[in-house]
Amino acid sequence: MDNLQFSDSIQSSYTFKGESILVGSAILGQNEETHVQVKLPLKTFNRHGLIAGATGTGKTKTLQLIAEDLSNAGIPVLVMDIKGDLSGLGAAGTSNPIIEKRQRLIGMDWEGKAFPLEFLSISDEPGVKLRATVSEYGPVLLSKILDLNDNQSGVLSMIFKYCDDRHLPLLDFKDLKSVINYVQQEGKEDFLQEYGFVHTNSAGAIMRSIIALEQQNADDIFGEPSFEVFDLMKKTEKGEGVINVLRLTDMQTKPALFSTFMLCLLAEIFEKMPEQGDSSKPELVLFIDEAHLIFKNASRNLLDQFEMTIKLIRSKGVGVFFVTQSPTDIPAAILGHLGTKIQHALRAFTARDRKAIKTAAENYPFSDFYEVDELITKLGIGEALISTLDEKGRPTELVHTLLRPPFSRMDVLTNYEIGQILKRSTLIPFYNVDVDRESAYEILHARISKSGQKETEEDSQVKKPSKKVGKANSEPTTFEKIMKSPVTKSIVIEITCGILGVLGLRTTRTRARKR
Ligand SMILES: Nc1ncnc2c1ncn2[C@@H]1O[C@H](COP(=O)(O)OP(=O)(O)OP(=O)(O)O)[C@@H](O)[C@H]1O
Ligand SMILES: [Mg+2]
Repeated sequence: MDNLQFSDSIQSSYTFKGESILVGSAILGQNEETHVQVKLPLKTFNRHGLIAGATGTGKTKTLQLIAEDLSNAGIPVLVMDIKGDLSGLGAAGTSNPIIEKRQRLIGMDWEGKAFPLEFLSISDEPGVKLRATVSEYGPVLLSKILDLNDNQSGVLSMIFKYCDDRHLPLLDFKDLKSVINYVQQEGKEDFLQEYGFVHTNSAGAIMRSIIALEQQNADDIFGEPSFEVFDLMKKTEKGEGVINVLRLTDMQTKPALFSTFMLCLLAEIFEKMPEQGDSSKPELVLFIDEAHLIFKNASRNLLDQFEMTIKLIRSKGVGVFFVTQSPTDIPAAILGHLGTKIQHALRAFTARDRKAIKTAAENYPFSDFYEVDELITKLGIGEALISTLDEKGRPTELVHTLLRPPFSRMDVLTNYEIGQILKRSTLIPFYNVDVDRESAYEILHARISKSGQKETEEDSQVKKPSKKVGKANSEPTTFEKIMKSPVTKSIVIEITCGILGVLGLRTTRTRARKR
């Protein structure tokens, strides 16, 4: 431990090779050998981070205790609660022999504390509904989400322009689909004159991508009222940062929706937040638990967009921490942007595991004090090797740290406790309302019905009345038309051929309402 000299006071920094590298902020725990406090400077939080380790080694609890320290420091936090085990942040922890032992070892005060929580949701989970309209996403981002090629993106941009010019609000996927159908049929001439020809193949490809996302209930994240990202940055009267817990327990089977949502959220935060320059503390820190889900099956387009957003969002004072089992779960291009690394134990059961551990160890700064690849396999639960960035942006040497127990509950809240937090929410009355604004779907639907009615009236003047006459101007005519469209036909064929089969998902939910 010759190279590392730590001060023993919580308030001061520790030095490495004569340089001060940590300036007081989030207290993580204590270094095993020197018995001094290990801290992460607030300034490093917008340089992003990684919390990695095998299952059950303490990753989520580390996330929990860092979120607590940030909240205490007045910094709002957003956590992606994939397993539903972060609601405990809203209740004070109670001591037990394990906590007492750890407290003694670390020599830190420990007192149970509940933190200010806001539950958010992008599904049926209870919480403030996070949504945005299709128009707000815009054609560029939506093309990335739908993984469209250049031609298809061009068509989508034209459709957005058409809607803008014709005052057809695009609120959700239903609106977008109805416009794509319309410009292929009734509105074909109108569209062709000003915006060009929409090839059936391109329209079909866009429709198929939309339907594939809809199978994962993506329509839940599109609509009104749109969520304002500044509502994530609230503080309590006492100056504590609010911890926003986004409940995503049903997201494990919907990786495409999860990555889409994350990308959209980051893009929205990036767009709305002002430049912060070289700020001394972050404005918001995001933790993405089970982060491998974002990158699982994500298209190249989406990954490129992610990398760019992660790189740029730093200057807006926003930090993103990925929590996952192995550093190799994170694409190399993104891993390269993560300044703080917290590595919990990795377990070596097979030769493949040993190889993965070696690769993981090589991702950390070189240590002439620890045998990193060996130590990684020996770390206990709630212990980690930690490296962050020094003031010059260089990675600090790894420090073996025993993490403090969270002050909040290490277990989940009961439904009653969750209900009490939801009741106190000031955002729910504003965001969880049904908005039934007239949008593209209704406008076009009415337009097609009207023209259908006119045609029928003309027909009935020349033809003999048949049994169908009474029904001729009602809805089935419209839907028959849409169903006859080449685009719709190709979608129906694709679906039966197995789009749903590939996704392994079949949704039984239907939209209860039109937003
Ligand atoms: N800092 C800590 N202080 C006290 N106990 C801890 C700490 N970290 C972890 N533990 C104990 O280890 C258990 C597992 O921790 P945690 O749920 O954070 O693991 P994980 O790595 O997130 O697991 P998974 O990969 O399954 O999500 C906790 O329930 C708790 O009992
Ligand atoms: Mg976990």
